[in-house]
Amino acid sequence: MDKKERAKERREKRRQEVSLLRTIPYSDHQRWWSIDTIAVVTGANRGIGLEIVHQLAMHGLTVILTSRETGVGEEAARVLLEGGLNVVVHKLDIVDPSSIKIFAEWIQQNYGGIDILVNNAGVNFNVGTENSVESAEKVIETNYFGTKNMIKAMIPLMRPSASGARIVSVSSRLGRLNGRRNRIGDVTLRQQLEDMNLLSEELIDRTVTKFIEQVKDGSWTSCGWPQVFTDYSMSKLAVNAYTRLMAKILSDRPEGQKIYINCYCPGWVKTAMTGWAGHTTPEDGADTGVWLALLPEQFVRGKFFAERREINF
Ligand SMILES: NC(=O)c1ccc[n+]([C@@H]2O[C@H](COP(=O)([O-])OP(=O)(O)OC[C@H]3O[C@@H](n4cnc5c(N)ncnc54)[C@H](OP(=O)(O)O)[C@@H]3O)[C@@H](O)[C@H]2O)c1
Repeated sequence: MDKKERAKERREKRRQEVSLLRTIPYSDHQRWWSIDTIAVVTGANRGIGLEIVHQLAMHGLTVILTSRETGVGEEAARVLLEGGLNVVVHKLDIVDPSSIKIFAEWIQQNYGGIDILVNNAGVNFNVGTENSVESAEKVIETNYFGTKNMIKAMIPLMRPSASGARIVSVSSRLGRLNGRRNRIGDVTLRQQLEDMNLLSEELIDRTVTKFIEQVKDGSWTSCGWPQVFTDYSMSKLAVNAYTRLMAKILSDRPEGQKIYINCYCPGWVKTAMTGWAGHTTPEDGADTGVWLALLPEQFVRGKFFAERREINF
């Protein structure tokens, strides 16, 4: 059996384990949530986001399914509502500050706050082996800055609780800082982004801005950026770094007001984003995000997961 076949076998074995784990119900003792627990999912009108809404609602939470287009969100929610799930649709475009503001005000007025934020909304314009940076600005703007803006807007709305509020971002292994085959070539920059004493919002912003500038002046190919889906990898690398940074910043919050932030890779999932190519289904792709959002004893923060296991950033 060659390396590829062994990897496929390992993947399939873990997928089966996780599918089995998903069938084990949480005990009453573990269920810290109720129908009054509010979870917000971005980009939830299709794909992994819609499935995260479905699974969270199946666990008995109230889930706000957000979508750029209200009608599309309502159409997506129809089956869930017919199934008796507590799903509410609201318009939200994560790159539009006024849309975020309106959404935050609506949350405040209608629910007084939220308990869970799942940053799922994202874009990728590369398919197959292509590596185009034509849409790099939009990719960074949506995947990194949009996610960051949502985190900043939702933190003040996160309700105090003994279990802690949770933020989960759907990221990607492609954004690993020390991925073996797809990483930033500049060792100094890599070390700075890895070192918690040096990591800052300014450093992350500066890194993605520099990348965009080099895309614009055409010099990006010789500047040591990741080789695979470069713009997408950079956007998710920034999300991962920001997750680690925010985990450190949020760790100061007093007991009862804790916010736990983590991110995960859903695997290569058959959705519109991949042209329905992939190893796994949206159900399996949503699993680790839902598991992280609901962890009964949530003391994990600033970590990166795949298939319910922590992996290196
Ligand atoms: N599929 C994979 O293999 C894979 C692997 C690793 C990570 N991920 C990540 O998983 C997440 C979900 O991806 P998916 O595979 O489910 O893709 P998808 O089917 O293309 O869904 C992406 C969702 O994000 C929404 N979106 C895009 N820009 C937005 C914006 N500015 N504001 C609000 N929503 C926006 C889309 O809305 P519209 O319908 O309005 O466009 C759509 O609902 C993404 O963050 C992606 O990067 C996916």
